[in-house]
Amino acid sequence: MHYNSKVKHIAIFASGTGSNARKIIDYFEGHPQIRVAVVVSNRPDALVLDMAGSKGIQTLVINRDYFYNSEQLLTDFGQYPIDLVVLAGFLWLAPPYLVKAYRGKIVNIHPALLPKYGGKGMYGSRVHEAVKAAGDTASGITIHHVNEHYDEGDIILQVSCAIGSEDTPATIAGKVQQLEHQYFAPVIESLLIG
Ligand code: GAR
Repeated sequence: MHYNSKVKHIAIFASGTGSNARKIIDYFEGHPQIRVAVVVSNRPDALVLDMAGSKGIQTLVINRDYFYNSEQLLTDFGQYPIDLVVLAGFLWLAPPYLVKAYRGKIVNIHPALLPKYGGKGMYGSRVHEAVKAAGDTASGITIHHVNEHYDEGDIILQVSCAIGSEDTPATIAGKVQQLEHQYFAPVIESLLIG
């Protein structure tokens, strides 16, 4: 077996319920080549911070001043160093200095088939309500690179699911979440080690 002794480090950003972050942490637990080094959140009460801490993963709570008015994050990430930044339900726009420093190395997951239902303010249940209101027969997930604009970076993978007239925003959310949990961690793995 080919073994690359250099461990790759991930930083996960999460500000929602953190279910994707938790899946990613579980997926890479004990992985020989990839380690979740730090979980970052703008919410001090985010449950994923407790989960990460209990597994010995470092946690970082950020505020807008730290994120947008300083570049301290680059120094903090340099200590690992971070190879891939993963946005898993993180709703703040990545600042230009971060995109520049990690160009091609920041990925986001979006709960719809971009370019539909993307952009500022399009997140969580709002996306699924819009899909339902439009009467779409499919929705899905988009995993994409991050640039300076919301949801506009190059697409890495899209997976769709069928939507029927009996579906509600809640059942659409369930279908989409299942795809997110299935695909996000393996895509991260293949981006890092091919
Ligand atoms: C996920 O569905 C993710 O796709 C979405 O937030 C949810 C977070 O769920 N992200 C966006 O809408 C970004 N625009 P989680 O906190 O349970 O992982």
